[in-house]
Amino acid sequence: GAPLGAAVATEAARKLAAGCTNLTELRRAVEGFDGCALKATATNTVFADGAEGAEVMFIGEAPGEDEDRQGKPFVGVSGQMLDRMLGFIGLTRENFYITNTLYWRPPGNRTPTDAEVVTCHPFLERQIALCDPKILVLVGGRAAKTLLDTPQGITKLRGKWHDYNGIPTLPMLHPAYLLRNAAQKRLAWRDAVKLRLKMDELGIAPAP
Ligand code: URA
Repeated sequence: GAPLGAAVATEAARKLAAGCTNLTELRRAVEGFDGCALKATATNTVFADGAEGAEVMFIGEAPGEDEDRQGKPFVGVSGQMLDRMLGFIGLTRENFYITNTLYWRPPGNRTPTDAEVVTCHPFLERQIALCDPKILVLVGGRAAKTLLDTPQGITKLRGKWHDYNGIPTLPMLHPAYLLRNAAQKRLAWRDAVKLRLKMDELGIAPAP
């Protein structure tokens, strides 16, 4: 159907999300939701990848072309860079649960509108609650801004532990940004080490 007004769509999303008692139900609810205009131009719904029981959850910005085609987050060049960052601390994506602030690709990878982000947000909040991670990693400025509800930029936020509903939360530079600014990689690698140290501190063992 036609996209709903943002307030109506957000309320509809909230009701749907509240009725979901596990991530499988939530995935179905998101896949069946027509209230976000982005769905009309997307090929696939990109809900999540990785282990549902993971204690660390990554949240990126939005699906790109490869993600839209495959229906999975971070499978393109950004995802390969993310994999290298994880490899650096002895981990793979199977150790994590990964999603985005949006479940559909903005056409031509344009910046999502506030209405699109706000409409998807009740689903994301529910997804975090149902995943119940011990650590949250916010990949890039848009995810950090959305989840931490702050106007501060990613260069200020990254590499420090923040709080989201009692969950230790680490904002990191976006891999797409690192692909354009290789000199910033050392900061991202430093942040990856921070993540690994916190996992060790909390006794989160990577899957064998
Ligand atoms: N960039 C993101 O933020 N998320 C993806 O899933 C892919 C690229």
